[in-house]
Amino acid sequence: MKQKSGFSGQIGFVFAAAGSAVGVGNLWRFPYLAAKDGGGLFLIIYLVLVLTFGFTLLTTDIAIGRKTGKSAIYAYESMRKKWKFLGILTFLVPVLIMTYYAVIGGWILKYITIYLFSSGKQAVDDNCFTSFISSPSSVWFGVIFMLLTALIVYNGVEKGIERVSKFIMPILLVMVIGIAIFSLTLKNTLDDGTVRTGIDGLKVYLTPDFSGLTVSRFLQITLDAMSQLFFSLSVSMGIMITYGSYVKKDVDLNKAVSQIEIMDTGVAFLAGVMIIPAVYVFSGLDGMSAGPGLMFVSLPKVFFSMGFAGRLIGIVFFVLAGFAALTSCISVLESITANCMELFHAKRKITTKVLSVIYLIATAVIALGYSIFYVEVKLPNGSIGQLLDIMDYISNSFLMPFISLLSSILIGWIMKPKWIAEEMELNGGKFGRKKLYNIMICYIMPVIMTILFLQSTGFLNL
Ligand code: PHE
Repeated sequence: MKQKSGFSGQIGFVFAAAGSAVGVGNLWRFPYLAAKDGGGLFLIIYLVLVLTFGFTLLTTDIAIGRKTGKSAIYAYESMRKKWKFLGILTFLVPVLIMTYYAVIGGWILKYITIYLFSSGKQAVDDNCFTSFISSPSSVWFGVIFMLLTALIVYNGVEKGIERVSKFIMPILLVMVIGIAIFSLTLKNTLDDGTVRTGIDGLKVYLTPDFSGLTVSRFLQITLDAMSQLFFSLSVSMGIMITYGSYVKKDVDLNKAVSQIEIMDTGVAFLAGVMIIPAVYVFSGLDGMSAGPGLMFVSLPKVFFSMGFAGRLIGIVFFVLAGFAALTSCISVLESITANCMELFHAKRKITTKVLSVIYLIATAVIALGYSIFYVEVKLPNGSIGQLLDIMDYISNSFLMPFISLLSSILIGWIMKPKWIAEEMELNGGKFGRKKLYNIMICYIMPVIMTILFLQSTGFLNL
């Protein structure tokens, strides 16, 4: 049989997987949650979850991928025929995410052009972002981002994905560290004479705030941290299964898992150092909105308050955000492509071409969800959303916890954890946290995933 194409080695794999993990979630959701959920308190809880849940899910996905050598649908089928449905459910997550991820990438592209070609003053206007997304011509930015993603996937795992990730990820790390240091040097004198410095902002970020901490608030923070973690690590959506299937048998998966966790969590943490002090110095923490609001409305104001340096920082920030979104978007399209190639016994080139056409249309439709196809829907978790939020809700709040629940039952109780341990110990490596893994996958995951699922579908209200 022809050797399946794949990553050239450990580094290529780790950069590609970390590229998938580090995305807009690290930049616009992690810092927001940290500021909202008690600073250092959130950080501690998140860290504990990374080392337990994150480790378990990432290990499971990657080991399933490498052991079966298949993408989600056939990976689950090859374990147990009856469980193919879980593969199909898993496949649906990237299928849905892909409809909107390039739209977000397009927004970032637009802001890169704003900072490149103007002083960034227009971005300060409160309506800049809303009027941009509600204009049908915004579609073009999403379409360009989608084409770029497709082009990379078209070139294959090693020549496309690995090459781009190895180039982008180190630059992204340097940029994040650079802006984070710059943020700490900021200083601003308010109208009443008080001086706020970046270091004060850092203290707000790092100091655990236990005030008003009740059991229910603690649970809420934990649930916030947990859903952020799953999204951030790109687990339970088949992406890490696909990437795992490209890893050579001589790569030490234990080390790879730790390195991916460190990069993803490190960038999320640094995004906080980059954003929280800057927002704190110039607008106080009321400026910390979530999601697009933080990136496209609050931060441009902060950049503008910095004067000339702000324009430069604006360019660097949006380029780095674009890099983060691109490597994530690639992984989503790759996972769909890989499943389709197996499903239809098709070649990569033709599969990517067909998928590109489908997703160019999908990207346009979702982008037009703020203008021509405007809808407003109340989601089961209580929030109001447009087309993009609906896709995001179904994939991340509904399917992901459900898939994690089923996959922990399949691995913990039907295949048994040993099935995973064998893959982790291939080549005589040591599966370091084996006991922890067994307890997590058999007992803790099924219980906690059920709670998370009930909470996000609105059946449970903690
Ligand atoms: N992990 C990415 C982030 O933190 C998001 C992502 C989700 C990437 C789904 C790929 C697939 O933003």
